[in-house]
Amino acid sequence: MKSSIPLWQRSGFRIVGALVLLILLGGAVGGIYFTQIPPEQPIPFPHNFHIGVGAQCSYCHTGTSTGPSAGLPTTDKCWGCHQQIEPRNDNLKLVASYGSEGKQIPWVPVAIQPDFVVFSHQPHINAELTCETCHGDLTQMTVAEPQKGQNMGWCLDCHQKMSTPEEFVLLSDCATCHY
Ligand code: HEC
Ligand code: HEC
Ligand code: HEC
Ligand code: HEC
Ligand code: HEC
Repeated sequence: MKSSIPLWQRSGFRIVGALVLLILLGGAVGGIYFTQIPPEQPIPFPHNFHIGVGAQCSYCHTGTSTGPSAGLPTTDKCWGCHQQIEPRNDNLKLVASYGSEGKQIPWVPVAIQPDFVVFSHQPHINAELTCETCHGDLTQMTVAEPQKGQNMGWCLDCHQKMSTPEEFVLLSDCATCHY
């Protein structure tokens, strides 16, 4: 008969889990703040320029304080400004061609966890963590750069640092981050 007990509640799995935890926590120290090469995007969108002229993160990524996903801006949002801007170079022409046809820009995800991981922005933003803590300094980037070492050990390491031992029971429970 197939057991109905969730995988992580079986004793054998728990022991293995505890070992996995120790190994991952140990390995989490190195490499966290180094970035990797970003994937090629359909338009080399310059974060640095747009943040420099005063656009807030939440203007384009509207979901961070209300739910799980930050979300990406629609083409309408770009076109709101860009239809007034003379498309005098190739990158601006690209924006104009998506904008005038109202076509979505097929951005390639860079900050992404596997499907079996539960992550929500809301509790993290409520805990007053800045975007920069997890995504690096976007004022210095054009397109977003993937951050290295954001594995299970990275999540657990911060959860341990930012909680009391009682709170860490929930924040390190397998079911908190895995379905
Ligand atoms: C708040 C207004 C505003 C919004 C919203 C906005 N832009 Fe811009 N963007 C500008 C301005 C102003 C410039 C500078 C244009 C110039 O140099 O003449 C610019 C420049 C650019 C450039 C040109 C960089 C270069 O190589 O010269 C690109 C590409 C670009 N924006 C893409 C986008 C995309 C894609 C979006 C939507 C996700 C967007 N922008 C949303 C105002 C905006
Ligand atoms: C505690 C770390 C953390 C903080 C703080 C954080 N993020 Fe994220 N962000 C993540 C993780 C992890 C993912 C990947 C989520 C996934 O794939 O399920 C992500 C994904 C994203 C994405 C792409 C997918 C999506 O959710 O739409 C955007 C855009 C984003 N974050 C923007 C922001 C902005 C803007 C802020 C600040 C207001 C912010 N993040 C703060 C960890 C963080
Ligand atoms: C004018 C709109 C705009 C503003 C303002 C903006 N972004 Fe973005 N952001 C984008 C677009 C367009 C993309 C998709 C292209 C890319 O990956 O760079 C993106 C991508 C991202 C991603 C990767 C998303 C993914 O799908 O994996 C993160 C993380 C992110 N932005 C964080 C920030 C943070 C933090 C700020 C504020 C400091 C910010 N952004 C401000 C438009 C914006
Ligand atoms: C830089 C610190 C930091 C990082 C990195 C981080 N978290 Fe968190 N996380 C927190 C804090 C602080 C809270 C809020 C705790 C509270 O509300 O008491 C939290 C809360 C959560 C919660 C909500 C728990 C609940 O039910 O109340 C989940 C789920 C979660 N984190 C998942 C993740 C995952 C998955 C990752 C890695 C991909 C991650 N976190 C990375 C600091 C972090
Ligand atoms: C704070 C959030 C968090 C908690 C708690 C958590 N995990 Fe994870 N786990 C992750 C993230 C994020 C990943 C995906 C990134 C990676 O592979 O490290 C992951 C990946 C995994 C993987 C796949 C590893 C691989 O290499 O593909 C396994 C197995 C796993 N977790 C088991 C567990 C077990 C067992 C527990 C309880 C002891 C647990 N996790 C608790 C966040 C968490």
